[in-house]
Amino acid sequence: MSVFHPVVEAEKLEENKGQPFTIEGQRIVIVRHAGKIYALDDRCPHADASIALGPVENGCIVCPWHYAEFSLETGDALSGPATETIPTHQVRENEGMIEICLAEEQSS
Ligand code: FES
Repeated sequence: MSVFHPVVEAEKLEENKGQPFTIEGQRIVIVRHAGKIYALDDRCPHADASIALGPVENGCIVCPWHYAEFSLETGDALSGPATETIPTHQVRENEGMIEICLAEEQSS
């Protein structure tokens, strides 16, 4: 069974601003953008920067160190220098709380 962790009240998520959280010891960034909420690992695969500190624009979050762009939807690296995909996690809203199911805790 998939495990959803309650993380933050939905109303506390600002539009286009990554917010970092630690869930089960993992650094996760949660982003509200264009009517949806996304969760990705908060770790740039290029040199381990916190992507939560980067700008959000056009469906992407931008690494603040060397400006690689990652799709919020898929975690794919859309521009270098990063080339690896960032893992994404399931998000749901439940009674005003944002809940995250980590990718490795998802059951099919
Ligand atoms: S650390 Fe993210 S692009 Fe270099």
